[in-house]
Amino acid sequence: MLEINNLSVSYNSNKRIVKALGPISMRIEAGEIYAVIGPSGCGKSTLLHTLSGLIPVFHEEVLLNNHPLNPKQHNIGFIPQNFGLLPWKTVEKNYLLSLKIKGNSIDDTLNERIEHILNKLNINHLKERYPSELSGGQKQRVAIARAFIMNPDLLLMDEPFSALDALTREEAQELFISLWNQYKITTLFVTHSIEEAIYMGKKIVIMSNCPGTIVEIINNPLFNTENLRQSEEYIRLSSYLRGIIKKGWSL
Ligand SMILES: Nc1ncnc2c1ncn2[C@@H]1O[C@H](COP(=O)(O)OP(=O)(O)O)[C@@H](O)[C@H]1O
Ligand SMILES: [Mg+2]
Repeated sequence: MLEINNLSVSYNSNKRIVKALGPISMRIEAGEIYAVIGPSGCGKSTLLHTLSGLIPVFHEEVLLNNHPLNPKQHNIGFIPQNFGLLPWKTVEKNYLLSLKIKGNSIDDTLNERIEHILNKLNINHLKERYPSELSGGQKQRVAIARAFIMNPDLLLMDEPFSALDALTREEAQELFISLWNQYKITTLFVTHSIEEAIYMGKKIVIMSNCPGTIVEIINNPLFNTENLRQSEEYIRLSSYLRGIIKKGWSL
């Protein structure tokens, strides 16, 4: 479980303090997936960088599984906007990297999990390639594989599908959710796409303009609905969200 208590983040920019986020408080139960949706510049990436440990936080402001967030102790997965693959390593070395860093040995059970994930994402044949030899969609699937193989306490994703064309994006979202339904990794992702929030967020957190605070948290009744994109409810919820969001947002 992730618990955020009154978290604010500021940057020190040219001797000026720039408030970028908060204060925000929220809680994500273990095995849930939350979408955070907010306008450009409201502090979405700042939130993820804070939770991933790139920006230090103070004791007790963020608890993960009841302990103050500590990137050295906790296992935190992060998929950045550009997928974050190391260009000088093969696909296989990329998805095994976090296991290697943690010193995990690969036993039969883990091997089975890895093969299952690779097959599901249809990237088994790409093991020996380098990231520069992959399409955007393939890079994205390798990044997803790496996250699920790592099996983190918390998975963070920063607009993970925004670099893909529409069709590839829908396919990647479907693959992600189908794996997520199987492994239920506690996930927080940010997006500026209403459609993505509805498709992938079990709960949808709506943020205000900078410095971002939480405007509303919506229980998404359409999560895991079959043929969601064609349904009337989907269109209705999209326009409801657009209604809340319309104040000064550029999506
Ligand atoms: N390294 C930084 N130094 C100073 N200001 C920053 C830095 N990174 C982001 N900001 C500012 O913090 C605010 C939030 O940025 P960011 O978290 O990137 O927003 P989002 O991801 O929602 O677009 C913006 O006003 C941005 O200009
Ligand atoms: Mg951002």
